[in-house]
Amino acid sequence: MPELRENEQKTLLALEQLKGKASVEQIVDVSGLAHAAVMRGVLSLTEDKLIVTHEQKQTLVSLSEEGSYHAQHGLPERRLIDSLAKLGGDAAVNSVIEDAGLEKKFVSVALGWLNRKGWATIKQGNLNPLKTPPFGDDEKLIQLLTKKTPLIVEDLSLELQKSIPNLKGRKLVEIEEKTLRELELTDDGWALVKQGIIVQQEVSQLTPELIRTGNWRNVKLRRFDVTAPGPVSFPGKIHPVQQIIQQVKEIFLEMGFTEIRGDMVETAFWNFDALFQPQDHPARDMVDTFYLANPKQGKLPKKGVVDAVAATHENGWTTGSRGWEYKWSPQEAKKLVLRTHTTATTIRYLTEHKEPPVKVFSVDRVYRNEKLDYKHLAEFHQIEGIIMDCKVTLRDLMGTLKEFYKKLGLEKVQFWPSYFPYTEPSLQSTVYVPELKNWVELCGMGIFRPEVLAPLGVKHPVLAWGGGLERLILLKLGIEDIRLLYKNDLGWIRRNPVCQQ
Ligand code: PHE
Repeated sequence: MPELRENEQKTLLALEQLKGKASVEQIVDVSGLAHAAVMRGVLSLTEDKLIVTHEQKQTLVSLSEEGSYHAQHGLPERRLIDSLAKLGGDAAVNSVIEDAGLEKKFVSVALGWLNRKGWATIKQGNLNPLKTPPFGDDEKLIQLLTKKTPLIVEDLSLELQKSIPNLKGRKLVEIEEKTLRELELTDDGWALVKQGIIVQQEVSQLTPELIRTGNWRNVKLRRFDVTAPGPVSFPGKIHPVQQIIQQVKEIFLEMGFTEIRGDMVETAFWNFDALFQPQDHPARDMVDTFYLANPKQGKLPKKGVVDAVAATHENGWTTGSRGWEYKWSPQEAKKLVLRTHTTATTIRYLTEHKEPPVKVFSVDRVYRNEKLDYKHLAEFHQIEGIIMDCKVTLRDLMGTLKEFYKKLGLEKVQFWPSYFPYTEPSLQSTVYVPELKNWVELCGMGIFRPEVLAPLGVKHPVLAWGGGLERLILLKLGIEDIRLLYKNDLGWIRRNPVCQQ
């Protein structure tokens, strides 16, 4: 004998009580089980051949709104013929209508049916009765429907059934198809219930109480089918981009860095000039950088710093460099931009924190005037970190980066010579991505030049690196189109795991 669960036992007992045949709804009523529990029971009982399901198609007929109205007042043709009889059996159409109190909208229908049913004819505006009209099947059905609605068509007499198409054509009744499921005990099922079923309560959750009292020994623990599909749920979760931002921040914190943040709107001074980027540098072009229209200008820092930066650009100041050899313009430096890199925030911070050691990072938004495509966004994130200390070298920078990538799960790293106006030497790092079987550029880095540090009064070497965060996210999530990250594609967000590994 198959081992039966509580809901299966109760379903069988209910069926027995209902003489071996019943609908699911009846079983729900008798057993007190939820509809879903009965359905689950039915499924396994059918599998065990203890019950069978009969499906029966049923047609239901019910009164429409207009049908209900006529059910109360009589069919319009009936109302006319009754009034005609009352008026002596031959009368002007208008007076019959008036006597019947027939609503205007029903008049032509009523006259039409008087004619079709052969109850009366119209001659020169007069209504002449033809015969004593019998109470038709259509009227009988309407009358029945006022007592009980809906009715099962298959249970009606053939005559009444025949009147349905007509009433449906007049839109007085509505028809609905239904499938009735009836469950029936099989011989095996009967044999089982005859033996007697004692419903044993099942426990689906092992509580501390059950364990403490030792009562778990006495109860029947419900078996779970762990392979059965459960309902899909979409719990709230952190957006994949935010998850990775959090992960990157945690890595920096583990490595002893402190987070800094800065304004998204910066003066060109901090975004470019303080970083020894000449004022005619192509990156400063409107084509690449968003300039603010209103307000157009911001404030420059104190005169000493501005003068030193200006001199460094013009002739190298005291740094031993020749500078860029052009006339530096404070107007150009005052322009407000949406910061194009987080290095603007770094350098501002450094100016105010000149004492070693400094180990800070930021993960923040930057803006570039890019055409959007699968690889480029105009608004994105950069990861950036700096280390300032008495004796740090390029080796420390490479070591730190290696460690940083390792914590992100990227083990193979290479460093290549590169160029940035504000670092010397400058490097570019590439990491090997096994899934892509390829090397991918991630961060730029270097040691800030004396032309950057001297005007700000920073006396110790500063290791700096920075790069786009989205590129890293694409690698980690295995996607190719950067726009997907910000499209709010709910399907994609849902398919992403609650936790990135
Ligand atoms: N600011 C550079 C960029 O936007 C990255 C960088 C940061 C390079 C710090 C060197 C030092 O690509």
